[in-house]
Amino acid sequence: MKKIEIKLKNCQYSIIYSNIEDAASNIIPNHLKGSRAAIITDINASKKYLPILKNILLKLNIKIIEIILPSGEKNKDLKVANKILDRLLKEKFERQDTIIALGGGVIGDLAGFVSAIIHRGVDFINIPTTLLAQVDSSIGGKTGVNSIHGKNLIGSFKQPKVVICDINTLSSLPKRELLAGYAELVKHALIGDADLFTYLEDNVNLIFDDKKILEEALIRSANVKADIVMKDELEDGIRAHLNLGHTFAHAIESASQYDGTILHGEAVSLGILMAYKTSMMKGICSNEQVNIVERHFKKIGLKTTFGSLLRKKLNANLLIDLMKNDKKVKQGYINFIIPNKIGQVSIRSDIDQKIIESVIDTTLSS
Ligand SMILES: NC(=O)c1ccc[n+]([C@@H]2O[C@H](COP(=O)([O-])OP(=O)(O)OC[C@H]3O[C@@H](n4cnc5c(N)ncnc54)[C@H](O)[C@@H]3O)[C@@H](O)[C@H]2O)c1
Repeated sequence: MKKIEIKLKNCQYSIIYSNIEDAASNIIPNHLKGSRAAIITDINASKKYLPILKNILLKLNIKIIEIILPSGEKNKDLKVANKILDRLLKEKFERQDTIIALGGGVIGDLAGFVSAIIHRGVDFINIPTTLLAQVDSSIGGKTGVNSIHGKNLIGSFKQPKVVICDINTLSSLPKRELLAGYAELVKHALIGDADLFTYLEDNVNLIFDDKKILEEALIRSANVKADIVMKDELEDGIRAHLNLGHTFAHAIESASQYDGTILHGEAVSLGILMAYKTSMMKGICSNEQVNIVERHFKKIGLKTTFGSLLRKKLNANLLIDLMKNDKKVKQGYINFIIPNKIGQVSIRSDIDQKIIESVIDTTLSS
């Protein structure tokens, strides 16, 4: 069984690559303190995988509370978190009970957040079922919800007891969601593993058809994130590198009011390209590097331009205003993660607003 070990100052846990059946029979029960678990999932992830998970756990005499939410980013807010808390408290959820997230990044972030605050913290197990969640959001313990003031502004660090990644769950994922997840997968290569980027370039036409290639790419990408999280659990420094493209992406998502016009991963792919263009305009990375990344995104099918719906909603002033609300602002300066070259980035707070305006305007008009 393949595993990644996450070793932090105060805890240690594994990301285990296993199918849900084996995990429910042999792994999850070993991580439960009590005999009850709440499975928090959404309408799509629950269809196929909730019955499998639930039936096995029930046979092992584990009592289950199931909470099935509607799907989508607009549910990642305090109102929905509060509804979950109400339901759990009504069911007399106790401190030794465990919360299990079964779903994508929205479910993982919400369920993780609830597990951080209910009874001042209960155990949390994450079973990510999207590519984005397997390669990124399930690793590292960031949990939280969006606010009307911006994305992920309310939250907590809460490390899981164990993460179960069943790559087979990706077979029911719509292509658009797979691509959105790929944006975070390739982001890790662009931040810290140029060889992985070469592997992705070499396999760009096969990755979604060949499970072995996808698994290799997924685990190598997850390792980049795991290494960074182990060096800087609470984002005092290098962990901010993982935000490549996210200052732009969060502003784009916020402006779209999470109405589904643009998915998180799609906003990230646009944000990454905008970060490369910013770097080129600042004289850091070469035009050729920008072209290599843009060509790769086009080959795989990722967004490189805004669609007409978004163009109507966005302009440079609005996006810059929203960026100023982002967590990456320090003492009024917007911090950008800027690529130096493929496989290496740095944190910069010296990017002239005129460059950002120009990058947004050129991207909006392309
Ligand atoms: N905590 C972190 O470190 C971190 C990192 C990156 C992203 N995120 C967050 O993750 C979220 C995005 O995650 P996401 O892209 O997984 O979105 P998501 O959770 O909304 O899932 C995407 C869609 O896929 C459906 N789905 C889930 N699993 C499925 C399956 N196996 N088969 C069919 N459909 C399935 C969901 O119902 C949803 O419609 C954002 O809120 C983002 O902010 C968090």
